[in-house]
Amino acid sequence: MTHRFDPKQMAKLDSPVRRQILPPELVISKLPLLPGQVIVDFGCGSGYFTEPLARQVGLNGKVLAVDVAPEMLAATRERCDQAGLLNVEYVQTDGVNLLLPQPADGVFLANVLHEIEKPVEFLQQLAAVMTTAGWLAIVEWLPQPMEWGPPLSERLTIQAIYELVEGSGWELLCWEKLPPAHGLAIARRKYDD
Ligand SMILES: C[S@@+](CC[C@H](N)C(=O)[O-])C[C@H]1O[C@@H](n2cnc3c(N)ncnc32)[C@H](O)[C@@H]1O
Repeated sequence: MTHRFDPKQMAKLDSPVRRQILPPELVISKLPLLPGQVIVDFGCGSGYFTEPLARQVGLNGKVLAVDVAPEMLAATRERCDQAGLLNVEYVQTDGVNLLLPQPADGVFLANVLHEIEKPVEFLQQLAAVMTTAGWLAIVEWLPQPMEWGPPLSERLTIQAIYELVEGSGWELLCWEKLPPAHGLAIARRKYDD
């Protein structure tokens, strides 16, 4: 059984330390994201990335903010409402099925993949609901001891991420460190030529 983030710890997701070690605008600037795209922020938490993603895709685009925890989704909605963002749709999942209301151009998974019970099946489901040029971005904690984040045993190595991605209908394009604590992997949907 994987460990799921406790909504009572929500404030940690927006702490000054997190803004320092994982600035949302910096992460988003590295995504293959275009204005007008439909992006899934899966496991959106309290909307730390949803808000800047929604600004980035603009009014012709949309962010599908998805979470299994109603408290998290409510916090994201409050944040985006306060920011006057009209291009966010909120989707509560059951933790097993994707239940997306429409196909997407990109999926963003920040500190979520290590919490997913059956990651291969999950990534396969995601690949199936993408548009042709669909991309996937995965932010995860680096698998090394540090003062923040989940226990070392729950962290994913780049090798583990590579195997999950390549084994579920995606092709890994690149991976980079986001010092001091995270890594970013970008993949695209695999197609038979
Ligand atoms: C560590 S938080 C990260 C939140 C956000 N992505 C961020 O970086 O600020 C992980 C989030 O993923 C959600 N989550 C975990 N497993 C999920 C699942 N199977 N389906 C939907 N959401 C899930 C949790 O409820 C939690 O809000």
